[in-house]
Amino acid sequence: MFQFEKISNELLRRIECPGTEKHYKVTLCNGLPKFTPEVLKDNSSRFSVMIETFLPIAERIKKMEVFKDDVWVITFPKCGTTWTQEMVWLLNNEMNFERARKLSLEERFPFVELTGALSLIGGDSVSDIVRLPKPRHIKSHLPVMLLPDQIWTVKPKIIYVSRNTKDAATSFYHHYCNIVGYDGPKEHFYEAFLSDNLIYAPFSEHVLDYWKLRNEDNVLFITYEQMKRNLRQVILTVSSFLEKSYNDQEIDALVGHLSVDSMRANKSCNMDALVEWARNTNYSDARKKNDSNEFRFIRSGKVGSYRDEMNQEYVTRFDDYERKMTIGYSFDFNF
Ligand code: A3P
Repeated sequence: MFQFEKISNELLRRIECPGTEKHYKVTLCNGLPKFTPEVLKDNSSRFSVMIETFLPIAERIKKMEVFKDDVWVITFPKCGTTWTQEMVWLLNNEMNFERARKLSLEERFPFVELTGALSLIGGDSVSDIVRLPKPRHIKSHLPVMLLPDQIWTVKPKIIYVSRNTKDAATSFYHHYCNIVGYDGPKEHFYEAFLSDNLIYAPFSEHVLDYWKLRNEDNVLFITYEQMKRNLRQVILTVSSFLEKSYNDQEIDALVGHLSVDSMRANKSCNMDALVEWARNTNYSDARKKNDSNEFRFIRSGKVGSYRDEMNQEYVTRFDDYERKMTIGYSFDFNF
């Protein structure tokens, strides 16, 4: 079903750290399944970079049972997954703010390939999904080629969130330092991103494949930038996609609940437990000693925050990366 080819190069050696050891290039031996929508059948041979712990769960995910009333939120990492999950869960659960505060987002909306995406996390995230009560809410960063085959026949609702490359890469760099345990220079991380060596790479094909699916009835493609520009409008769009209807006060309450300050203060979705786990598990002793404990998973929460820290050379190279990958598509990364 899959071919796994170990990747070993200087760019990867520089960024490998406790949370992401041993990278593999994953390809499908027989291409995409025959029920895959026509728009994806463009003869390109897809691959995705994953880490070693993904190998034992790849086939289990591919063969996983899918239900029509599942709701999937899929993104490339750091594109607004958590924000969107909280919105989708509340819209799909009669705006039950009380329950949302009681149960963590990880419990309400688990991450299907978690154990295959963070080396030392332990557990079995695929079994956790199988045990979930219906309707299931599922988070994933998987590219289309690694989704369960039944996605294409059962057609559950999928909400894909994209984000401009420079902010996504910058946010991912902070995630690498503070969750994955990386403590090298930012430039090495950017090089690994730009050369499609990072987990879930290539970024552009990840986004473009879901963008090609945007007109499928069961797929909604939204962007982090749209959410920042007009959260209320995106809430209404997602609500109608989920076939839900709410009055103005309920929508107002959700807009407030989803603000960056409110979510940062909300223990059920601010991932404090994950950050704490990462500090204890992935940080070097030197890092533990000098850590200021200031990192919050919900960090700056802005569009364009790359400007504070990406130098002009990398701005140009990321712009170039986007330009090359979107040649021939009407899609524009700058939204
Ligand atoms: P930054 O690191 O740029 O601040 P993910 O959930 O996919 O890991 O994405 C994390 C990014 O979404 C982080 O971006 C985080 O701050 C941002 N984010 C999370 N909740 C948010 C909210 N309520 N409003 C705006 N941005 C939010």
